[in-house]
Amino acid sequence: QPSGSRMEDISLLGREDCRSKGGASGFKVALLGASGGIGQPLALLMKMNPLVSVLHLYDVVNTPGVTADISHMDTGAVVRGFLGQPQLESALTGMDLVIIPAGVPRKPGMTRDDLFNINAGIVRTLCEGISKCCPNAIVNLISNPVNSTVPIAAEVFKQAGTYDPKRLLGVTTLDVVRANTFVAEVLGIDPREVNVPVVGGHAGVTILPLLSQVNPSCSFTTEEISYLTDRIQNGGTEVVEAKAGAGSATLSMAYAAAKFADACLRGMRGDAGIVECSFVASQVTELPFFATKVRLGRSGVEEIIPLGPLNEFERAGLEKAKKELAGSIQKGVSFIRK
Ligand code: NAD
Ligand code: LMR
Repeated sequence: QPSGSRMEDISLLGREDCRSKGGASGFKVALLGASGGIGQPLALLMKMNPLVSVLHLYDVVNTPGVTADISHMDTGAVVRGFLGQPQLESALTGMDLVIIPAGVPRKPGMTRDDLFNINAGIVRTLCEGISKCCPNAIVNLISNPVNSTVPIAAEVFKQAGTYDPKRLLGVTTLDVVRANTFVAEVLGIDPREVNVPVVGGHAGVTILPLLSQVNPSCSFTTEEISYLTDRIQNGGTEVVEAKAGAGSATLSMAYAAAKFADACLRGMRGDAGIVECSFVASQVTELPFFATKVRLGRSGVEEIIPLGPLNEFERAGLEKAKKELAGSIQKGVSFIRK
């Protein structure tokens, strides 16, 4: 039985109709790692999303409390909590979208790859559950190192015979969110008016902001390009160091993940012209996975948008990014195939 709110108990007394009508048109979303630093604010933001009719909160700790708390919000989504591995299948059954922020975060001095040993196994187990219980769900993978966990998820799905590359998306939205913020600061404009494509992957030099393609069109000095590229590539480390051992980005990440999930849900609903950056299976380069702008639709990734013209600085950055990415992707693939 899922740990539920009192609303769950009351619904058993016969008022299920009232509730289900309100949310009948929405999507069913599961959040795996829902009690964590990202999971809790992301649960709050997903409970506020009018496209969500059912929200399943799964973690290995503390979901009864988080679920009781979130369920008191007077928004449409019905919230249910699931605690521990025995409840994973119930958490996943029937879901349309699964968001995964489960896993350990960095401490100062660590790279994202240092998280591989713990997080690879967590992602494998959760993806095995997805294959079994909701093989058609769209998956938003947040757990680091994203450059390896997305290939891990793909291999798990391939082994289960459920892999559809259109439905597996690594979440790199925080890189775009940071890039928009830092570029807006330099330009002295509102960050909501800025859109910076960030391609490649989600770690250090693999994070490649395309400052030549900023919308609205603008130009930067060499110093500005160097400052912005460095700050965007190291935004995660800036937060890890400021938190001094208490974890990595959680609040800005929950915001970014909610923004990305909302874009996926709007695509799934059939809205036109939904474009976001994401780390996905791709033929844009010779690598099997790469982050670029993608167009989202009813079945997930409907179009991979080409890189467009790069300047010399970006072409050099692309070569560095590809070199590191190749190793991280291979590491993820080998973890499952070994
Ligand atoms: P956290 O430690 O605060 O929370 C992680 C949660 O995962 C915990 O509640 C924990 O109980 C849960 N968990 C652990 N094993 C689990 C399992 N087997 N099944 C379900 N849940 C499990 O960490 P956080 O700050 O929320 O970060 C989570 C992950 O997200 C980290 O790997 C971090 O590096 C990553 N992250 C990614 C991005 C990105 O841009 N993609 C940004 C920030 C953080
Ligand atoms: C981020 O970019 O903030 C995340 O990937 C977390 C981290 O470890 O930096």
